[in-house]
Amino acid sequence: MKILIALVLIFYMSVNVRSQFTPTGFPNNVLSSSSPWNTPIGSTPTVEPLSSQMMLKVKNAMISESYNPNLYLHYFQWTAPLHNINTANPVNRITVIQSQGEGFHETVDPLNTKKITNLPVDFSFKPDPMNDGHMIVFDTNLKVFHEFSRFKWINSTHANATRYDTFAYNVDGTYPAFVSGTRWWMKGVRGSGAPFIAGLIRWDEIQRGELNHALAVGSLVNRMKSSTSSSWSYELCSPVSSRTDGWVVGADTIMEGQRIQLDPNYDISAFPPKSKLVLQALKTYGGYVVDNSGTFGIYFQNMNTDGVATNSPWYTQLGADLTSLYDVPIDAFRVLSCSNVSTK
Ligand SMILES: *[C@@H]1O[C@H](CO)[C@@H](O)[C@H](O)[C@H]1NC(C)=O
Ligand SMILES: *[C@@H]1O[C@H](CO)[C@@H](O)[C@H](O)[C@H]1NC(C)=O
Ligand SMILES: *[C@@H]1O[C@H](CO)[C@@H](O)[C@H](O)[C@H]1NC(C)=O
Repeated sequence: MKILIALVLIFYMSVNVRSQFTPTGFPNNVLSSSSPWNTPIGSTPTVEPLSSQMMLKVKNAMISESYNPNLYLHYFQWTAPLHNINTANPVNRITVIQSQGEGFHETVDPLNTKKITNLPVDFSFKPDPMNDGHMIVFDTNLKVFHEFSRFKWINSTHANATRYDTFAYNVDGTYPAFVSGTRWWMKGVRGSGAPFIAGLIRWDEIQRGELNHALAVGSLVNRMKSSTSSSWSYELCSPVSSRTDGWVVGADTIMEGQRIQLDPNYDISAFPPKSKLVLQALKTYGGYVVDNSGTFGIYFQNMNTDGVATNSPWYTQLGADLTSLYDVPIDAFRVLSCSNVSTK
């Protein structure tokens, strides 16, 4: 009996180890299993009392920008590419310079040098083509992420960036609200301070047919605070958000870090397989609003970076399927209650 248990354990562990990383050394599941990004909503969530008003405000903002009041997809611009580098081999090392004259966050630039040195980044790696220039580099040797905002090459050993963060692949992906220190607004590369890899839909997982995490959501009318008379300046939903770039005042606005969910009763049975996978994730895990955006949308790994929609494999290989996601109405989403509002 003991031998049998031992064998079962060894079998279980070897299966587990084998399935933890893709053949390229990238983790199948990013962030810890206890991360809010990897935790299902469950069958009886508390819905935010102002949910309908909040979603209506998003819908009206989309209409006033002349968009359909439906879900949008960021896949060839305004998202982030994902590059692997293996530091077990000699690799290109770069210095990243803070191009707005501020120090990076204390957690990555404790001496306020406004520079980060010795980062493993190949000169062939390109950021997202739009202004935010997001880029994610994964070190398959040390299993750590490096994330950048507004990344711009200067030469092969130097680049500009406005934000930089680094973390292990299996952390929970959250930071305390207004991360202590003098530069809390420098934490993380998204407006909410959340990691960019959190909630990003990756090519490898869609290929495998597995999407077992919450999705990152960008929206147009994120909350700064609920009322002009509040004595604080910012409100956010901790711990998914640690800072906020929301600029709208009103209790009927969604906070950064707040969770939304595709209504469990919304019928997805007629959607094609890859779209259904995405929509099921939006029901089971929902999405966290983590950034300002020109649309109400979700984020796919940028596979091309040349800024041309029709060059993206999401379009050329999966477009016939994924295009149906643009039919999902904003009305089909609801906002869940935030149990931990943080203010500053
Ligand atoms: C890098 O940032 C500096 C300071 O803002 C700026 O003068 C320079 O033009 C930037 N270089 C590139 C390649 O963007
Ligand atoms: C690359 O750019 C940095 C920052 O501007 C500069 O200090 C360095 O001398 C440059 N290196 C080369 C080889 O041009
Ligand atoms: C609530 O937010 C505070 C501030 O970020 C954080 O320290 C605490 O861990 C959060 N609590 C929960 C239960 O998420």
